[in-house]
Amino acid sequence: MLETAQLKIGDKTYDLPVIEGSEGEKAIDISKLRDQTGYVTLDIGYKNTGATQSAITFLDGELGILKYRGYPIEQLAAKSSFIEVAYLLIYGELPTEEQLKAFNFDLSHHTLVHEDMKKFFDGFPSKSHPMGQLSSLVCSLSAFYPESLKQNQTPEELNLSIIKVLAKMPTIVSWIYKKSLGHPYIYPQNKYDYVTNFLNMTFGQRTEVVDIDPVIVSAMNTLLILHADHEQNCSTSTVRIVGSSASNIYASVSAGISALWGPLHGGANQEVIEMLQKIQEDGGDTDKWIAKAKDKNDPFRLMGFGHRVYKNFDPRAKIIKKACDDILEKLGIDDEVLEIAKKLEEVALKDPYFIERKLYPNVDFYSGIIYRALGFPTDMFTVLFALGRLPGWIAQWKEMKEHKEPIGRPRQIYTGATNRDYTDIKNR
Ligand code: SDX
Repeated sequence: MLETAQLKIGDKTYDLPVIEGSEGEKAIDISKLRDQTGYVTLDIGYKNTGATQSAITFLDGELGILKYRGYPIEQLAAKSSFIEVAYLLIYGELPTEEQLKAFNFDLSHHTLVHEDMKKFFDGFPSKSHPMGQLSSLVCSLSAFYPESLKQNQTPEELNLSIIKVLAKMPTIVSWIYKKSLGHPYIYPQNKYDYVTNFLNMTFGQRTEVVDIDPVIVSAMNTLLILHADHEQNCSTSTVRIVGSSASNIYASVSAGISALWGPLHGGANQEVIEMLQKIQEDGGDTDKWIAKAKDKNDPFRLMGFGHRVYKNFDPRAKIIKKACDDILEKLGIDDEVLEIAKKLEEVALKDPYFIERKLYPNVDFYSGIIYRALGFPTDMFTVLFALGRLPGWIAQWKEMKEHKEPIGRPRQIYTGATNRDYTDIKNR
């Protein structure tokens, strides 16, 4: 017998079905609430609202658990590659050798962008924010691949648009970076794997082959894996709701990039480094800045701390923190901001303000320190988050379409002026 929830309104009692997920999460299904009761629910910020049923990513905020298609993030970060994880997220299973080979073959044959796209790159002011460029450039792919606008694409057509957006993203990201330096673009080379190709296009100073340090390739794979999906976060929910209107994949991903840009979301990784640098310039007084973060009259927040779901350690932050030490040591880099970050964490985790509010370091707290060590400028950090999150956005968009979910259209409670008549401007 399935559990039901009872809702009492006035002298009436309504039975609402309860559904349970494969990991024991429970939800009250209110999909017929308004028809039954005339009431809607109100949950600003959707803190208690499930938007869908998904088989892609599971996270437990209390226990600090994160799994992609059932595989613990710790195992994937230690043993897998970003492209293998992308395949897992999008198609639901770890690929066989043959499947992975075919996937890499398909990707490597769609890495070029149309030469006319260079006109868009040239149109941006050289110091404009890379996230604004990325969102525009990804959406512009729909202009070059109008077949993606077709409604009711066949599975093969839909998969081709998935391959194209996944394959072209590293080229677009690296060319945004090259343009910011005034350097020539470096073209993708099919013989490289996905991550090495990206690093070569990004850091290759010349058109010849650049020896990319395996430490950097490994670090980049780990960071991209850790960012690959995170269930119904702000940007993923944006990709799903835009896709629910039958908008094409490029426009849906472009909308997700715009949502990720926000400093409360993916933009936090840039904010963290800028915050650490400000603390460093201010003499490194972590107690002073912790006090500012706690002061309600001070707009300063400890960026990279806190999370809507994790009320324990973000498992990704744990892995990245350890990777920080390993990579900086291997690259022989001694970065003072890492020490400031560790001190902030140590002080904050003992402070009742943070303990009471269950504020722990999240994925953004340490990631920027590695990006910096790898040679990326701060304003590219959120673009790198988008590069990592792309397979998750694609997987969630694909699942929404496969489930034939209806167009997303939340309700509201109106609180404005009630009925009134128009008045002539002379009488106002
Ligand atoms: C990401 O959702 C995802 O999965 C996102 C993400 C992903 O992979 O997609 O994990 C990636 O976006 C990580 C989060 C990156 N953002 C930041 O690091 C920005 C700093 N963090 C916060 O702004 C905040 O913690 C949020 C936005 C992450 C979560 O905000 P919530 O859930 O809406 O919580 P809240 O703002 O209501 O805060 C609850 C309390 C408040 O204090 P009180 O009003 O109860 O007294 O905690 C305080 C807040 O003032 N608080 C902080 C704080 N974060 C929350 N105080 C100081 N510093 C902080 N960072």
